[in-house]
Amino acid sequence: MAPLTSIAWVDNQVRILDQTKLPGEIAYNTIVTITEMYDAIKMLKVRGAPAIGVAAGFGLYLGMKDFPDSSSLADFLTLLLKNADFLASSRPTAINLFWALERVKKVVHSQKDVLSVSQLKELLLKEAIAILEEDKAMCQKIGEFGFSLLKEHKTLLTHCNAGGLATAAYGTALSPIYVGLEKGKAFKVYADETRPLLQGSRITALELMEAGVPVTLICDNMAAFVMAQGKIDAVIVGADRITANGDTANKIGTYSVALAAKEHGIPFYVAAPSSTFDTTLESGKEIPIEERGQEEIVNGFGKLTGPEKVPVYNPAFDVTPHRYITAIITEKGVLEPPFTESIATIIS
Ligand code: MRU
Repeated sequence: MAPLTSIAWVDNQVRILDQTKLPGEIAYNTIVTITEMYDAIKMLKVRGAPAIGVAAGFGLYLGMKDFPDSSSLADFLTLLLKNADFLASSRPTAINLFWALERVKKVVHSQKDVLSVSQLKELLLKEAIAILEEDKAMCQKIGEFGFSLLKEHKTLLTHCNAGGLATAAYGTALSPIYVGLEKGKAFKVYADETRPLLQGSRITALELMEAGVPVTLICDNMAAFVMAQGKIDAVIVGADRITANGDTANKIGTYSVALAAKEHGIPFYVAAPSSTFDTTLESGKEIPIEERGQEEIVNGFGKLTGPEKVPVYNPAFDVTPHRYITAIITEKGVLEPPFTESIATIIS
């Protein structure tokens, strides 16, 4: 199990690990306001689709906790919507952000006629904690289903970080590896470094090493060659949004890994909770893809790696078409093609 925790409710406060400082510094921040939570999400201090969902739940609570108990319910609901819209504008691709905000709003609306403003604030916190706890249980189930699927394999390749630090606990893509460890099976893992923000190298490699999993770090452009050398038995990645047909948005570079896996006859698995599915979208073409700043590519970690003013294109995610995906591992079971049908069985 990964010893580092991305987000937690500790001593009546929200605590996050500032992932922008990894691997050099383990720095926990207390998040006190909704604006601090918005910034933490936007700057990737807290990141990874499920963890962003958890953060959004707490962010909404922080935005409402000082609302005067004596003020009107109408004003409370207006501010709740405004705050939800604010948090929703932090990052566009991971659907878990919007899923969590909708869930919390719905719970408040279902109780607004029976609870006082003060009680509704307590309800907000209760729901945020419930999202956090459910996320932990979800990770465990994905790990167990994923382990059953992968247990005959020896060496896995992963891209970006879909581990404990992208969720509230074991992670999604890395969860079967941690479950394996508990059962005495040590998978070997190749981790793509994941340009430009290096979540694979800064976070996945660190997380796996801390947990005692044998991990080898490679640059993104080495993945196809490592597959050609027969070193990879299966690929497993997380997801930020999966559409009704199984098309999957995940960290930029995932699509290239899927293409390479197909060429080499290597199974390509996606691990994600049901909160990552967006069945309102038919295909991946409709997924909003976040574009990030020029400096991440040219001056990402304080070293100029390109001409200072060169224009760049920096999409943070790509979409892997469903035809390259062997199966999707969820907390409700393993989904196989045709995905339009299998997804419909778990998402109403
Ligand atoms: O930009 P990030 O670091 O938030 O991107 C994270 C990813 O792409 C993860 O693979 C995805 O969110 C799944 S996390 C379980």
